[in-house]
Amino acid sequence: MSKVLVVFKVFVTLLFVDVLHGLPYSHFQSKKRNGEEREPHITELFFTQTLDHFNFNSMGNGTFNQRYLLIDNFWKKGYGPIFFYTGNEGDIWEFALNSGFITELAAQQRALVIFAEHRFYGRSQPFGKDSFLIPQIGLLTVEQALADYAVLLTELRQQLGATECPVIVFGGSYGGMLSVYMRLKYPNIVTGALAASAPILSTAGMGDSTQFFTDVTTDFEKVAPECTNAVRRAFQELKELADNRVFSHIQSELLLCKAPTSEQDIRHLYLLLRNAFTLMAMLDYPYSTYFMGKMPANPVKVACETMLRGSDLLANLRNTAGIVYNTTGTLACFDLYGLFIECADPTGCGLGYDSLAWDYQACTEISMCYESNNVTDMFPPLGFSESDREEYCFRRWGVVPRPNWLKTQFFGDELSSTSNIIFSNGNLDPWANGGVRQSLSPSLVALNISGGAHHLDLRGSNDADPVSVIIARRTEANLIAQWVDNERIRLRKSP
Ligand SMILES: *[C@@H]1O[C@H](CO)[C@@H](O)[C@H](O)[C@H]1NC(C)=O
Ligand SMILES: *[C@@H]1O[C@H](CO)[C@@H](O)[C@H](O)[C@H]1NC(C)=O
Ligand SMILES: *[C@@H]1O[C@H](CO)[C@@H](O)[C@H](O)[C@H]1NC(C)=O
Ligand SMILES: *[C@@H]1O[C@H](CO)[C@@H](O)[C@H](O)[C@H]1NC(C)=O
Repeated sequence: MSKVLVVFKVFVTLLFVDVLHGLPYSHFQSKKRNGEEREPHITELFFTQTLDHFNFNSMGNGTFNQRYLLIDNFWKKGYGPIFFYTGNEGDIWEFALNSGFITELAAQQRALVIFAEHRFYGRSQPFGKDSFLIPQIGLLTVEQALADYAVLLTELRQQLGATECPVIVFGGSYGGMLSVYMRLKYPNIVTGALAASAPILSTAGMGDSTQFFTDVTTDFEKVAPECTNAVRRAFQELKELADNRVFSHIQSELLLCKAPTSEQDIRHLYLLLRNAFTLMAMLDYPYSTYFMGKMPANPVKVACETMLRGSDLLANLRNTAGIVYNTTGTLACFDLYGLFIECADPTGCGLGYDSLAWDYQACTEISMCYESNNVTDMFPPLGFSESDREEYCFRRWGVVPRPNWLKTQFFGDELSSTSNIIFSNGNLDPWANGGVRQSLSPSLVALNISGGAHHLDLRGSNDADPVSVIIARRTEANLIAQWVDNERIRLRKSP
């Protein structure tokens, strides 16, 4: 009986989500254990948010509508903790639908869950279609986003009768960075943070420009050294064709919509191909997913099988790129400039409006001068120095990046002065080594997830999960419960 019900519910939700967001809905299976409700009931709401938290003259008392999702069916009203997801660079539904761990934990710990959308992403556009014009775009900063979350949390705690409820923030990737920053900047509101796959060091300019693409390469190397060799040789063949300007051959081998005609086109082709490998390394989950696009289970393994199928290396390279760009199997040809946009983030900005916002952030506060070199990695040499970044950002947005600001503003290597943060990282994730890999104190805990890709721990539990992530989630659950208990004791003691 319950099965029929489950199918119906999932079906309804699927339709709803599909119509609104074009995302399949496969990760919130309704699970009833001990008769308890396990399925999150998600309500989409908007909050009247201050446009400019830091300048009283620029926008007066101007506001915009900030979107957030509320899940209150697990909450022990007025008592259970608040689990707050600090939204990052995209539509908040996409993060909510790919962060099932948070709602599973909320069911266990009777928490209220809020997923807040980051300003300038998804539907949280301060100036509608004009949001990406200069100077309005200037209101897109990390500091403004954090202040949005602080104001939203404070207001919702009042409205919902939750002023005594401890707040734990969650985030993955840039969202994980925001979770760390919330704990640093608003310890009056936030008791603890789970920062999954948060590259807080490399994005603050503390790292090595070769690390990222070296680690992407390592993932493929781990599957089979012949795999990375095949990739190198395919790029070598491509380079020879390009050097000899046999552009029509490149077009026909790689099924490009238009033949490349310049070095710029070839560079763009390299970037597009490198991006496919990057995405497969980041999203190398043990089951198929829909997050930043559709991915098969174990995409790195699938890619290596594809690279090693037969002796036509360029065909193999084309089919490997197809795992990312041709997910429907209906693409007639690759449109170089339509499928990939070059921007200030060499790991890719995605497409659409969200890519504009992320490009701006990569041009201002968030440093990602990552380069491939064909020595420590398997890709053609594609540089992106601080001066390349400066030149691009000034041309594109009229801004000069401030590479040292994040480190100054958010404690950089002095993180040991804070507390209650989990830094989790999977060893398959090329972002991992840009984050904190060693515990800094008993309450600043680094967790390693062997066999884990980009914030696997935030995803809902799955039968294909490696043991490491099951253990990591258990550790996270225990630490969070402990922080919440300690906060209650502290609140009771304070007058
Ligand atoms: C902004 O302030 C002005 C002047 O006090 C007031 O007339 C207006 O209603 C306020 N607008 C909002 C959205 O609060
Ligand atoms: C996309 O996949 C289909 C089905 O496998 C294939 O026929 C087509 O050639 C692919 N397109 C490109 C551009 O590789
Ligand atoms: C990579 O390096 C090898 C060895 O130096 C060189 O032969 C090859 O042309 C390089 N490949 C690319 C794509 O630059
Ligand atoms: C996690 O793994 C990295 C890389 O292997 C290692 O350097 C680090 O010490 C490990 N950290 C923990 C907390 O086990």
